[in-house]
Amino acid sequence: MSDGPGGMRPSGDRLDLSADELLSTTRAVRKRLDLTRPVDPTLIDECLEMAAQAPTGGNGQGWHFVVVTDPAKRAALAEMYQRGFEMMYGDREAAEANLPTDDAEYVATTKRVIDSAEYLAEHMAEVPVMVIPCINVRTDNMPAAMQAGVWGSLLPAVWSFMLAARERSLGTCWTSLHLIDEPAAAALLGIPDNMMQGALIPVAHSIGTDFKPAPRRDMSRIVHHDTW
Ligand SMILES: Cc1cc2nc3c(=O)[nH]c(=O)nc-3n(C[C@H](O)[C@H](O)[C@H](O)COP(=O)(O)O)c2cc1C
Repeated sequence: MSDGPGGMRPSGDRLDLSADELLSTTRAVRKRLDLTRPVDPTLIDECLEMAAQAPTGGNGQGWHFVVVTDPAKRAALAEMYQRGFEMMYGDREAAEANLPTDDAEYVATTKRVIDSAEYLAEHMAEVPVMVIPCINVRTDNMPAAMQAGVWGSLLPAVWSFMLAARERSLGTCWTSLHLIDEPAAAALLGIPDNMMQGALIPVAHSIGTDFKPAPRRDMSRIVHHDTW
């Protein structure tokens, strides 16, 4: 990252969070995306520089990041996203019926997530910046071991991007539903055929910066020592 005049980094919106604060408070931001405030492209560049510090299998660095700010392209991507959202959550009752019955807190949280996701789906076109991370290998028909290597060489960078964004007072939300129409998004953005898109990350300034750790399932349910 290049320093500004006098060695000062562009720090207007920096939160100076500790590593643990950053890791535990980088939330899926939807309703608190500021859809009216423009995002300085320098901030996106800085976050992408942080993203490119992530590891890749064999140091392949086959990642690419398409930054979309053009309003017509954002609107087209939002339409694809809405179609994906409709397929997954259009039947809200069916989506909620699939939730586990043995964890009331998880069910309540997930219902709130679906509410919030509905809001994002409705407002996606208004989000000022969308970032689509891509990787130069397609996993179509690959064995699982190779798929893991490909995805593992893209997704850590995406999370690093989101962490760097949070540190700069930007809100993000990992989304994947536009991929229902991946070829249409590729055509819209001129993404070559050998590239695979991994996500669509909406980015905007967050409304307020006070995010909290999320409720998660008890660690004893998910951690296994020496045997499952
Ligand atoms: C692989 C992946 C795909 C996701 N896809 C979507 C999506 O399409 N739309 C959306 O609103 N959120 C999506 N999310 C965000 C999750 O819904 C989010 O992590 C969840 O709401 C929990 O939020 P929290 O991490 O702030 O607690 C996705 C997250 C991941 C990791």
